[in-house]
Amino acid sequence: MKAKIVTLPGDGIGPEVVTAAIEVLAAVCNKFGYEYELDEQLIGGSALDVAGSSLPEATLKACRQSDAVLLGAVGGPKWDDPNASDRPEKGLLGLRKELGLYANVRPVRPHADLSKASPLRADLLEGVDFTVLRELTGGIYFGEPRERRQENGLTLALDTMVYSDAEISRAAHMAFRLAQGRRGKLTSVDKANVLESSRLWRQTVTQVAEDYPDVELEHLLVDAAAMHLLTRPASFDVIVTSNLFGDILTDEASVLTGSMGNLPSASLGEDLNQFGQPRGLYEPIHGSAPDIAGKGVANPVGTINSLALMLRYSLGWEDAAAAVEQAVDVALSDGCRTVDLAADGEKSLNTTEMYAEVVARIN
Ligand code: IPM
Ligand code: MG
Repeated sequence: MKAKIVTLPGDGIGPEVVTAAIEVLAAVCNKFGYEYELDEQLIGGSALDVAGSSLPEATLKACRQSDAVLLGAVGGPKWDDPNASDRPEKGLLGLRKELGLYANVRPVRPHADLSKASPLRADLLEGVDFTVLRELTGGIYFGEPRERRQENGLTLALDTMVYSDAEISRAAHMAFRLAQGRRGKLTSVDKANVLESSRLWRQTVTQVAEDYPDVELEHLLVDAAAMHLLTRPASFDVIVTSNLFGDILTDEASVLTGSMGNLPSASLGEDLNQFGQPRGLYEPIHGSAPDIAGKGVANPVGTINSLALMLRYSLGWEDAAAAVEQAVDVALSDGCRTVDLAADGEKSLNTTEMYAEVVARIN
């Protein structure tokens, strides 16, 4: 069966890192004899410029008909007008929502040889291997009302943090199942000492836990979790949390790996593709990095590892997925570094050289 993959390069360094992943896809499919077709579509600021919308109808349609979607990044200073009615980020959020991708999985597994690139001491990084499940289609990212108002001569702006028990429960079930397949520990992160939506979060997760007696459940407040991620990162197995907290904590967690450029993600929902697997959206957790866009120096590892997650979760091509991850690991062990990963005095590779090193280790 031929996989239908939509690519959404987007803005900033997005096109550079997606190109890298496509080269790796070609190499690994050639090696294992898998067939695919690519369909490039517009999203974000570049879609706004060309099609007048951050999520054109044609893009959404192509994604709905695909087996999986690979995205680079969206956003940039050009589209940052606070009064604009459409923004690059709106396109990405709309895509996640429209495809029902409520679970965003972000694995954090630092490469032993990159500890010098992390600000954390090497002894703290030892044994770190956890996965964050970030709820992706609810919470304050989507709650209504969200608006500006004039009241008593003041301008007010408001957002709404809202969760239903059903939204929390489906994310929790997926997190418990992830933990069952790993070391059997789940940490649920909330702000239940202050927020009503977090009290419902904690109650619902506790209830769902009854179905998973083999998983040890821990609750942490988000401020404490931010600290524990740095003081005892190796103690985590699976972390489940809301949309906003997950966004913040995974940027923090990414520095354990040496650079946020390394971290991949998979966004999954209930829809199945022609392979009978979830139709997922795969993207690195980093943004469009306008400061280095077009310079050819972006780290493609997060996107290449996102590709590996796509091969595994949406296509069921485990041999290809493992081969990609292995090639990245070996390239890093062999000293291949983009500029964000290179320690003082270490030589750095540009994006093209970096993915070529990965491709060479696949072949
Ligand atoms: C992420 C990003 C996005 C988010 C932005 C670009 C809207 O930061 O995927 O983590 O906040 O979800
Ligand atoms: Mg983010």
